[in-house]
Amino acid sequence: MIQSTQFALREGEIHLGIGHPEESLLAKDVLRQAAAHRFAQEDAAFLQYGADFGDDFFRLELAKFLSNHYGFAVDASSLYITNGISQALDFVCRYLSQRGDTIFVEEPSYFLALHIFADYDLTIIPVTIDADGLITDNLETLIKKHKPKLLYTIPIHQNPSGVSLSEKRREKLVELAQTYDFLILADEVYHLLNYEGHAPKAMAAYIDSKQVISLGSFSKILAPGLRLGWLGADPSLLAKLALSGMVQSGGGLNPFSSGLVRSALELGLQDNHLSYVKDVYSQRLEAMYDALKPLNLKFHKPKGGYFFWLELPEGMDANLLLDAAIKQGVSFQPGPKFSSQEKLSHFIRLCFSYYDTDLLKEGVKRLHTAMNTM
Ligand SMILES: Cc1ncc(COP(=O)(O)O)c(C=O)c1O
Repeated sequence: MIQSTQFALREGEIHLGIGHPEESLLAKDVLRQAAAHRFAQEDAAFLQYGADFGDDFFRLELAKFLSNHYGFAVDASSLYITNGISQALDFVCRYLSQRGDTIFVEEPSYFLALHIFADYDLTIIPVTIDADGLITDNLETLIKKHKPKLLYTIPIHQNPSGVSLSEKRREKLVELAQTYDFLILADEVYHLLNYEGHAPKAMAAYIDSKQVISLGSFSKILAPGLRLGWLGADPSLLAKLALSGMVQSGGGLNPFSSGLVRSALELGLQDNHLSYVKDVYSQRLEAMYDALKPLNLKFHKPKGGYFFWLELPEGMDANLLLDAAIKQGVSFQPGPKFSSQEKLSHFIRLCFSYYDTDLLKEGVKRLHTAMNTM
């Protein structure tokens, strides 16, 4: 079978586990226009080996975009251009940690980030979350015991739980990081996908503390295939990443994609696309929420991002439910995937970004049928 994308779907299946943008939302028109604009320029630097930290014109344009959307000034000199958050996490582990170091992660957390931490033999310690995100109350005791080098958080519209870290806890976390000298890796991939109310201040606001690395990406707001993102940190930390042998040989990461996206930013196309996808996703979120009500499950209604995290009825196992669901033509991600402790077997994650509202409703209906067979 020939495969071009990360997921291969079974015929007729609705896979509510896929956390990708739907194909129709992949900003083809935006990128076509942006590419035409970029190729019309005399400057061919975007086709050359790139500057270590990323193209300076792009960093300036990105800083403007982020300052506008975050509501505070972001300095271009604090931005390092990456191949997306996945690559940035890999780089941070490679250059800012050592084998055996301890990393704190939320329980549950983004399962593929857990793979990256395992790749570098980091010792993973889970930290519990609630409706306000990572619980900071007893964190100090845990920190004293385990002496973490890193703490990985998805502070807004968390994958998979959908919760966001409150402003008070953000401040507390930074305070603890300063006192006990660990680095906070804030994965802010969903920060710009806020559909209701005010988003808390991005963790990027705290990079001056030198304890915070803020990670962002164009994957969810433009197209994952660009493999383009950024790492925001104090310039002293950025310098360590730019010393990478790979960057010294291959140049700064992704000059081609950043050239295209520079045009998308300059022409206002990214802003337009962002408002468009926010509208679409917020309708999908509401459709899934309405469809989920009759299932009588405990869950938090997200205010942004991509996901619902559902607690199953007492005694129902997520992996067994998945077998039953596949028979009904629907799929999802079972809770244990998101646990660093092989727990959470009574949770499942559904995503609302990949299908239109009719298919989302149909998928949830099939899930309901599957639950009734258990
Ligand atoms: C929390 C989180 N971080 C990172 C990523 C991947 O980001 P990128 O495509 O920039 O590597 C995802 C994608 O699902 C995600 O949910």
